[in-house]
Amino acid sequence: MNPPVLHMKGISKRFPGVVALDAVDLEVGAGEVVALVGENGAGKSTLMKILGGVYRPDLGELEIDGQPMTIRSVRDALRLGVGFIHQELNVIDNLDVAGNVFLGREPLRGGLLRLIDHRRMRVATDVCLKRLGLNVASRVPLRSLSIAQRQLIEIAKALSQNARILIMDEPTSSLTLTETARLLDVIRELKAQGVSVIYISHRLSEVEEIADRVVVLRDGRHAGTLARGEVMHDRLVRLMVGRDLQRPDARPSSANRPPYFAVRNLRTRRYPSREVSFAVARGEVLGVAGLIGAGRTEVARAIFGVEAAVGGSVLLDGVELKISSPGDAIAHGIYLIPEDRRGTGLIVDFMIRENITLPALSRYADAGLIKRGRERAAAVEWCGQLNVKAPSIESRAADLSGGNQQKVVLAKWLSLNPRVLIFDEPTRGIDVGAKAEIYELMRGLAAGGVSVVMISSDMEEIINNSDRVAVMHEGRVAGILNQGECDEQAIMRLAVGSTEKPLEASAQSVVS
Ligand SMILES: Nc1ncnc2c1ncn2[C@@H]1O[C@H](COP(=O)(O)OP(=O)(O)OP(=O)(O)O)[C@@H](O)[C@H]1O
Ligand SMILES: [Mg+2]
Repeated sequence: MNPPVLHMKGISKRFPGVVALDAVDLEVGAGEVVALVGENGAGKSTLMKILGGVYRPDLGELEIDGQPMTIRSVRDALRLGVGFIHQELNVIDNLDVAGNVFLGREPLRGGLLRLIDHRRMRVATDVCLKRLGLNVASRVPLRSLSIAQRQLIEIAKALSQNARILIMDEPTSSLTLTETARLLDVIRELKAQGVSVIYISHRLSEVEEIADRVVVLRDGRHAGTLARGEVMHDRLVRLMVGRDLQRPDARPSSANRPPYFAVRNLRTRRYPSREVSFAVARGEVLGVAGLIGAGRTEVARAIFGVEAAVGGSVLLDGVELKISSPGDAIAHGIYLIPEDRRGTGLIVDFMIRENITLPALSRYADAGLIKRGRERAAAVEWCGQLNVKAPSIESRAADLSGGNQQKVVLAKWLSLNPRVLIFDEPTRGIDVGAKAEIYELMRGLAAGGVSVVMISSDMEEIINNSDRVAVMHEGRVAGILNQGECDEQAIMRLAVGSTEKPLEASAQSVVS
């Protein structure tokens, strides 16, 4: 039998205060898709960063094609055929596609001036784009592409470097259903071309669909391997979390409760001629479903005063509010936990404690002096509630795993005692166990009288956690479903603007 393309043996890695990896083994065959799963902070990205030459292991060996190798740098990894598509996209917005694909290794023309050979770059880029079935021109600037297309550009970049082992760290966390399906097709195609793929995802349905084998990490250790036929949702969860997860209980109906927070005839810049109205009671969770681009985020931003509304009003307890900035919204106890948490939610160079207490520092101060003890107690309490995995609250946010960073952002807003909380995609990139914790927390907040608006593209999340669901279609509310009426079919029908197209044909474009 041929040796595996990749064999990582006994890999260990410590960071100050954390054993990120403890003697982990990983084998990958040629043309094999191995999914790497595990809770937030389990060590998935760290293991891949070792393979990608970003980190050096403390212990352990690595073989490629049966030969022992040492990977000291990203350059080494590339030379050995390891391509890495990171959890955070690395593309540069104002360069064009070809410029991104060849970033840092632009081909030069001969002659004294050593000018970049743009033509050669474009031609080579077109070849890669074609291999991925990606229909964009190599000279368009990256900023004009969707997130999904940018992701494919990263893959093109790896392919142009002749990657034989492709690492994808949560490639679909910002993709819609159709885009995800495309990406999975691309992976199948690459597989047929003999490329091996290591695929990290918290979306277990994708893992079931694409993986030839699943390797589960738990707390930095290898917790088990499942062959293709053995990959089942419940088994995966048990290996990842170490226990079965509880199904959420049914909640009492929220029908007939008086509205507390209401949006009336709100119009946004994106859809200036469409009006949005809905109301949420105290203690109620209103889910907001819809396709990507339906205008959900714009409505949230207008309510929160990030972006001026074109018209309409926002009411709290029957009183019309004047909100022209996030500061105004916050003063009324209305908070938005935004979709792009890395960009707008977290200061990565700050400690966890600082991130959590920053929005309400005055609360931790006496006569202008910050009371460290009070601040620390609040941070410890919230990290405990959300189960943030970190050596201490003094750890830098940048050093946390992706999912734990998101929990810190949640903690920051939750510590402010909100009246109205708007979540935009609350659990993107968050593992199954932590998701369950966040839902419980959301329900706890609602039980305490908070009105919750939850924008989500995750069908299961919407159906299981909303009291009612408002479905948006092209800038307006296409319908509001009560608890009993709210299933996948009904949501999809409204989300695609109902009956013009048969459901099967359009269901594809509904986000997962
Ligand atoms: N540069 C670093 N410095 C300190 N600690 C780190 C560093 N990188 C990772 N860690 C820690 O190592 C552990 C593993 O993190 P890693 O990013 O590998 O998790 P993950 O499995 O990718 O999680 P997620 O699903 O949230 O992305 C975590 O406890 C994390 O806080
Ligand atoms: Mg990670």
